[in-house]
Amino acid sequence: MRLGAGAAAAGDAAKVTWLEPAKLRAAPNPVAPSDTVRFASIGTGVRGCEDLKTALSCPGTEMVATCDLYDGRLIAAQEVAQKQLPTTKDYRAILDRKDVDAVIVATPDHWHAKIVEDACAAGKDVYCEKPMSHTVEDGFAMVAAAQRHNRIVQVGSQRRSGIVYAKAREILASGALGQVTAIEAWIDRNDASGAWQYPIPPDANEKTIDWNQFLGSARKRPFDASRFFRWRCFQEYGEGLPGDLYVHLLTGVLTITGINAPPARALSTGGLFRWKDGRDVPDLIWTLYEYPDFRVAMRCNLNNESPADVTRVFGTKATLEVRGETLTVTPQDTRPQPESYSIFGWPEKLRNEYLKEWRSQHREPGPGQYSVVEEAQTFQAPPGYEDQIDHMNNFLESVRTRRPSVEDAVFGNHTAIACHMANYSYFNKTVATWDEADKAIKG
Ligand SMILES: NC(=O)c1ccc[n+]([C@@H]2O[C@H](COP(=O)([O-])OP(=O)(O)OC[C@H]3O[C@@H](n4cnc5c(N)ncnc54)[C@H](O)[C@@H]3O)[C@@H](O)[C@H]2O)c1
Repeated sequence: MRLGAGAAAAGDAAKVTWLEPAKLRAAPNPVAPSDTVRFASIGTGVRGCEDLKTALSCPGTEMVATCDLYDGRLIAAQEVAQKQLPTTKDYRAILDRKDVDAVIVATPDHWHAKIVEDACAAGKDVYCEKPMSHTVEDGFAMVAAAQRHNRIVQVGSQRRSGIVYAKAREILASGALGQVTAIEAWIDRNDASGAWQYPIPPDANEKTIDWNQFLGSARKRPFDASRFFRWRCFQEYGEGLPGDLYVHLLTGVLTITGINAPPARALSTGGLFRWKDGRDVPDLIWTLYEYPDFRVAMRCNLNNESPADVTRVFGTKATLEVRGETLTVTPQDTRPQPESYSIFGWPEKLRNEYLKEWRSQHREPGPGQYSVVEEAQTFQAPPGYEDQIDHMNNFLESVRTRRPSVEDAVFGNHTAIACHMANYSYFNKTVATWDEADKAIKG
């Protein structure tokens, strides 16, 4: 932003710049056969099938096996892979296979830690879906497992690799926004699917689903298809809106600001107002986060649709907004102006003297010396751009080169902790404080 001292009008039509698709960190195409990453999927529900499709669209991959607890999903995975694969309902059989280099873990969140730890111990690299952890303790155990076994563990928050967020980061780091003290971000929905009321397949029963394995370390209960397919609604398996959606917003915020740490404090409010279907998580949550240099207001509402996910960064020189795959930077007009409002209460004589003095110190620019407030600039990802492809390619490249992942377990742990803090504050009706020494949330 080149803001000048003069006073000419600014145009308000935004310039649009198409962002170049990222220069993939991945090895060039075609990948040498010896660099082929042989992977298996653990959990092939909605996201697991998307992930395996994404992985297969990346150069130098081969899918060798698949694991899920429901027969229908073992079929679905093979349909997406377009080939017959060895299948199992026991993920340990996948980890025993010598032909598996890496696993994609897309199970419900309460299973992430155990499977990731076992996979690391078995010498596999891991792409683990977001949010990385179900509890704070899980997260640190996962970080330790990745380090102990020297494994690539990448968390699947694809904004971390997105070109729009990379551009936003570059703009903030350039100083163009000035001092950033406030950020707001939200994802809002208004439909049954958005509120996780997914349909239950008609063949769902204890013969087609390994219910006990689904429960894992969670409380034992009789078979309940609703819990199996709508697990996000229950704290035993998910983390409600923070674990499902805040984590994407937080990944964006931390990527743009270059922060890799938990927030100092979090304060949430919200409630379960509408989707009273037996769930034990809210359908509206609002959280204020304290990071050292800025504050964040975050919201997810399942009771009103917002056309796009939005992250807005407020700087002293400009406002940056990411709306879907579009980034707009709107400069603030910070050119000096004589005070007007606060001198209304002055006697006319003093007011006129003040204005005279101000004008003598702020000379009118001469001809040709006017400068303008730059117009808003918009940056747009190309049509069809998918950040998840960049994210998966980044993972595959880390597997091949052993270069650290763009979203390693440490970063994934930090965004997950922020989700847990939002829930801690909501459920305990208190401010959640991060205790770095104890690696724990305190009330
Ligand atoms: N990155 C993203 O944009 C994104 C989008 C959606 C979901 N997700 C994440 O992906 C994960 C899966 O979500 P989903 O929507 O696909 O859920 P889902 O319910 O559709 O699928 C989960 C699958 O995991 C299987 N499973 C459960 N426990 C298992 C175990 N112990 N071993 C093997 N399989 C097991 C289930 O049988 C089920 O088919 C979650 O962590 C979710 O937060 C990420």
